[in-house]
Amino acid sequence: MTALRAGAGRILIGKRLLPQTGDRCRTLGLLGLCAIISDSNVAQLFAACVSKSLVSSGFRQILITIPAGENSKTLEQAGAICDRMIAAGFDRQSFVVGLGGGRIGDISRFVAAIYHRGIPHVQIPTTLLAMVDSSIGGKTGVDTGDGKNLIGAFHQPSLVIDDLDVLKTLPRRQFNQGFAEIIKHAVIADSKMFQMLHSWKAGEAPALQRLIKRNIQIKSRIVANDERDRRGQRALLNFGHTVGHAIERAGNYRKFLHGEAVSLGIVAACAISVKRARLPPDQRAAIVDLLERFALPTRLPPKFPRKKILDAVTFDKKFEGGKVRFVVTPRIGTARIANDVTLDDIREAVKQL
Ligand SMILES: NC(=O)c1ccc[n+]([C@@H]2O[C@H](COP(=O)([O-])OP(=O)(O)OC[C@H]3O[C@@H](n4cnc5c(N)ncnc54)[C@H](O)[C@@H]3O)[C@@H](O)[C@H]2O)c1
Ligand SMILES: [Zn+2]
Repeated sequence: MTALRAGAGRILIGKRLLPQTGDRCRTLGLLGLCAIISDSNVAQLFAACVSKSLVSSGFRQILITIPAGENSKTLEQAGAICDRMIAAGFDRQSFVVGLGGGRIGDISRFVAAIYHRGIPHVQIPTTLLAMVDSSIGGKTGVDTGDGKNLIGAFHQPSLVIDDLDVLKTLPRRQFNQGFAEIIKHAVIADSKMFQMLHSWKAGEAPALQRLIKRNIQIKSRIVANDERDRRGQRALLNFGHTVGHAIERAGNYRKFLHGEAVSLGIVAACAISVKRARLPPDQRAAIVDLLERFALPTRLPPKFPRKKILDAVTFDKKFEGGKVRFVVTPRIGTARIANDVTLDDIREAVKQL
């Protein structure tokens, strides 16, 4: 097992960690009632183990299960969870355990951020994407009818438990989408990891443990310089996301998983980087090749409504004088914000997808 610190919290990475949840919460000094928040898929698989561990460490707990899927990461659902906690007598000493992927991470952290103006949050990510990305950085969020993650707060988890065993049940497509964020980290900050990923072999637990650790370190380092997302540093993590988010929206959040849309967004960002940041074309080809090795999409289906992608980009982003702030990579391992990217550049890049 590896332990590291990110912000105020501790992160544990290893195998057979779920049965230790209760002990770890005790060591943290947590005392009160605990709400395990999970979704219908994940609860079936792992809630009993987590719950048993909490009980044997002397915690009283309730399990709150919400339906799996993006539609349940809403303000209404967060309100309903708070109501359950109020009814069960939760107070300021209580805490939340978020057991699930990025969605459960976001909504359970949001609940922990607002309940009694903030109670401790323990996160148990169960997807690769959540381990390497969404569990780090303290962003919480819920969706409204107008858009995704428009309502949220910053709230750092007290403890994150990355148990590699839970990834065994994760469907392959879900597993692969985590690699979109890993490849993003490599492109913007770690050329060595980029090389290493080229010879990656699936199924080696120690290698996966090291990979998760490295990605946590990359994201934490970037976040530490700009915790509240005000100084522009954290924006580098949005590499591939301007077009990626637009593709998710254009596909009504059904056609592509987040990581798949980001993969396509990375391809578009690379085309723009060749033009605006002199990314060497062979490096662009190497990035596309790496995405494909993890079975991530690098081309849009021919009939995909490209116009809708452009509409979504203009809905999402402010263009000043026809230009937008856009993250580019001049070479693998570095990234910067460009201020001279135009809507035409984006249109051209989307056309090539
Ligand atoms: N806060 C942040 O910084 C941040 C960053 C990136 C993404 N996100 C958010 O993360 C979400 C996407 O994350 P996700 O893909 O992990 O979503 P998810 O939580 O919906 O998980 C994906 C699917 O896999 C299932 N699942 C989860 N773990 C499993 C396991 N171990 N075995 C079998 N099935 C399992 C879930 O039930 C779900 O159906 C989006 O809502 C996005 O906005 C947040
Ligand atoms: Zn992302």
